[in-house]
Amino acid sequence: MVPKQKKGKNKHKLTVICVTGTPGTGKTTISKRLANELGYKYINLNELLKESNLNIGRDDKRDSYIINEGKIPEKIRETINKAEKSGEKGIILDSHLSHFANKEQIDLCIVCKCELKELKRRLEKRGYSRKKVEENLEAEIFEVCKTEALEQGLKVIEINCSSNVKKEVKEIIKFLKKDMSQMVIQPSSVSRRR
Ligand SMILES: Nc1ncnc2c1ncn2[C@@H]1O[C@H](COP(=O)(O)OP(=O)(O)OP(=O)(O)O)[C@@H](O)[C@H]1O
Ligand SMILES: [Mg+2]
Repeated sequence: MVPKQKKGKNKHKLTVICVTGTPGTGKTTISKRLANELGYKYINLNELLKESNLNIGRDDKRDSYIINEGKIPEKIRETINKAEKSGEKGIILDSHLSHFANKEQIDLCIVCKCELKELKRRLEKRGYSRKKVEENLEAEIFEVCKTEALEQGLKVIEINCSSNVKKEVKEIIKFLKKDMSQMVIQPSSVSRRR
């Protein structure tokens, strides 16, 4: 069992980990493996947000939905309560929007990173338009998810998901078993560039 962290402890009994990052960086891959390894419940937060009608429109230019970010903590609270009632010892929230949680809800935020060449390859393989690929690469270069997660006050670690999933999962579990205060990214080390 992974111990609850001393600092930034959420007010729930179960451990809550959110996994964020630019599309294609490997969130789902790592989230499922981690959930399996830790015996936590994997939650596809994107699906829940879609089902909850948090879409406030569609951005056709970007070929994506616009989500009301302010409503995300409420959905996460419901999810945590439900998991707690079912006796889960932990949950993994998988979404590029999961870092819009409230800081009290989250024990650890994992930001997936991917080398640009590999990310470009993955996104092109999905058939994304050139514009969409470029936008996502830009988001990765400017570390948008990490910056937003730190602004949200979450405890953040970055994981390179360019290759070797097994090694990454091991690395995360090692983080979780230690006091992470030495390892998390300090908010002051990142400036907003958007
Ligand atoms: N560590 C890794 N090493 C090699 N390939 C990986 C790794 N992680 C993910 N991949 C591959 O990259 C692709 C994208 O991975 P994945 O679907 O997990 O990304 P994602 O961040 O969940 O994307 P989305 O934001 O669209 O949900 C998949 O084909 C997956 O097999
Ligand atoms: Mg995914």
